[in-house]
Amino acid sequence: MIVPGMTTSTGTPPRLTDQASDATGAIGVAEVTGAGAAAAEEDFFVDHRVPAVRHLLSIADLDRDGILEIMRLSDAFAEVSERPIPKVPALRGRTVATVFMEPSTRTRLSFETAAKRLSADVMTFTAATSSAVKGESLRDTVETIDAMGIDAMVIRHHSSGAPLRVTNWVGASVINAGDGTHEHPTQALLDCFTIREALTARHDGEIPADLKGLRIAIVGDIKHSRVARSNVLAFSALGAQVVLVAPATLMPASLEGWPVTATGDLDAILGELDVIYLLRIQSERLGEVLLPSLDEYHWRYGLTRARADALKKDALVMHPGPMIRGVEISPEVADLPASLVTRQVRNGVIVRMAVLFHLLGSGAM
Ligand code: MLT
Repeated sequence: MIVPGMTTSTGTPPRLTDQASDATGAIGVAEVTGAGAAAAEEDFFVDHRVPAVRHLLSIADLDRDGILEIMRLSDAFAEVSERPIPKVPALRGRTVATVFMEPSTRTRLSFETAAKRLSADVMTFTAATSSAVKGESLRDTVETIDAMGIDAMVIRHHSSGAPLRVTNWVGASVINAGDGTHEHPTQALLDCFTIREALTARHDGEIPADLKGLRIAIVGDIKHSRVARSNVLAFSALGAQVVLVAPATLMPASLEGWPVTATGDLDAILGELDVIYLLRIQSERLGEVLLPSLDEYHWRYGLTRARADALKKDALVMHPGPMIRGVEISPEVADLPASLVTRQVRNGVIVRMAVLFHLLGSGAM
């Protein structure tokens, strides 16, 4: 299975013995001997057995079909997650490294759980307990981890574009787990899956083809949010209409080329929305005073009980976490049945299994 348009590179060094997988997905080691060895030696610099390394850096790496393919794979892994032992051997013998240079609770744990449920080995790097605190560069750090023999590197970094740079330095598949204010593609994929799942439950188990006809508001700190950027691309690729809602100081300077409309007046559109997607104020990235106060933000843009009551009866409430209760959402609204926040977390594991399998898997689960 190839996701159309997924970023690829063929920078993996050739090897005379290489991992091979059989039709059952079991991974073994293919020894090259005799005449085969001679042929392989001649072919040393063009090793056709080494597949192209594929990366997921942006939702733009996927088109509509690519996103839908991840949704279909996620359906299969959702079934696996319901089993008493939610584990399959699909990535046995593979190693996934998580490299987080910024704090994270759900994304890192979710990737690590996903990798373990696929039977991969997991290597965890956290900046605070590593040589990064001694001044080691990003390049030296990722080259060191890559040299230990990994198949995928899941990277979070405070600089936009860092995962793209890393693809030049490592032979592993690189997955962007959030880079600065740029993108967070797996968050957007799990959000699409979560909306699709809610629609499926509403339509007696009939899975919708896409998100066409839905009006989705993304509310809050659009300017600094990588989640907003990935979600705008994903929701609109699947046919939803996206409206961005924020005070002018938290909107990007230009929305040219964004497939969205924008407004500063949340109350005026509440009754039209199918999904309201709330963002955290990215205090760590503000760098300047863009809001009079968090209380004032809550008063104008927070999802209060009164605003929740003004939504359509079956509107969905979403948030990528971490939620700051009392700022972007009132505590009691966060716990209403319309809130899909814990469903998003659960689905994060499933969708990340699908992404890892898609990038590294042999086709057999
Ligand atoms: C992110 O890492 O971007 C989070 O999932 C959302 C946030 O930090 O607000």
